Amino acid sequence: MFKTRFTEMLGVEYPIQCGTMMWLSKPEFVAAVANAGVMNCIAAAIYPTGEELLEAIEQTRALTDKPFGVNVSLFPALMPRPPEEMIQTVIDSGVKILETAGRSPQPYRETISGAGMVHIHKCARIRDAVKADGLGVDIVSIVGTECGGHPSMEGVTSLILVPSAAARIKAPLIAGGGFGNGRTLVAALAMGAEAVNMGSRFMVTQECPYDQAAKDKIVETPETGTVLIMKSLGSPSRALRTRWTEKILEMEGQGATLEELVPFITGKAGLAGWQTGNVDEGVFPAGQVIGQIDDVPTVAELVQRIVAEAEETKTRLDGLA
Ligand SMILES: Cc1cc2nc3c(=O)[nH]c(=O)nc-3n(C[C@H](O)[C@H](O)[C@H](O)COP(=O)(O)O)c2cc1C
Repeated sequence: MFKTRFTEMLGVEYPIQCGTMMWLSKPEFVAAVANAGVMNCIAAAIYPTGEELLEAIEQTRALTDKPFGVNVSLFPALMPRPPEEMIQTVIDSGVKILETAGRSPQPYRETISGAGMVHIHKCARIRDAVKADGLGVDIVSIVGTECGGHPSMEGVTSLILVPSAAARIKAPLIAGGGFGNGRTLVAALAMGAEAVNMGSRFMVTQECPYDQAAKDKIVETPETGTVLIMKSLGSPSRALRTRWTEKILEMEGQGATLEELVPFITGKAGLAGWQTGNVDEGVFPAGQVIGQIDDVPTVAELVQRIVAEAEETKTRLDGLA
């Protein structure tokens, strides 16, 4: 398979990261992904206290001896505790891979590098990738507007962001937003990335703790079935197009304030829907790549399929040369 600085630095088998997912990136799923040779992080935001996060880390360790990390969002509204406390808990746990996202990692860089961690920072604009690189972040991750979760306000696709960022930074780059199979993994490597970040694709696997009805809904939804909500708040989020998100868009169109929108966009409002599969109760983040998702494989089946397809693609391209 493909060896890159990403696989070497993190000690993982494949140049693939499963995107961190709120409510879903919990021990059993994280361990299943790690055991399949793919990089993955626990979402610290799921755990309101340091004790709970440490317990999740220990549970994951009991299920895998492969590398895994912890994702800390630097976006204050998403975090149950201040980022510096979360980061300190991760350092105390001995986990050596930390992914940050959502804001500049500058205030935390010294602490993270002082702890000898591999620091991945995820961003959504080229200027933020260049800044993270300049701050000495070990691996920079960038997501295009296709992605599930939070793209930038600027609406730029991965096809543009990835080669542009790769040309401008020294650190290895992870390409995210719209990647879900072996062909696009090879395309990302061709564009200068050293790994892909696949969130939506791994969400629709048997081990992902996502309701079966929601997985089935995604399988039948085409690439046009997502919308960007919360643009009016300056913090866009790509999610499944449902009655719930249509209502949010309608409210935004009518100039709703943050206070008015909060009951509809807060993670807590969505939790019930995530547990029951009723996608009309809450926001279900999902990327445009859902149009290419046709089944619900195990994590191991998915990874082997991606790898086999990437190898076939490379052979086909070699044949064209
Ligand atoms: C259901 C879901 C939840 C997500 N939650 C988070 C999160 O808590 N923190 C984060 O940094 N990114 C989050 N993301 C973004 C992913 O980590 C990843 O960057 C994105 O899914 C990549 O794009 P793709 O969906 O096209 O594969 C989420 C994505 C999805 C689909």
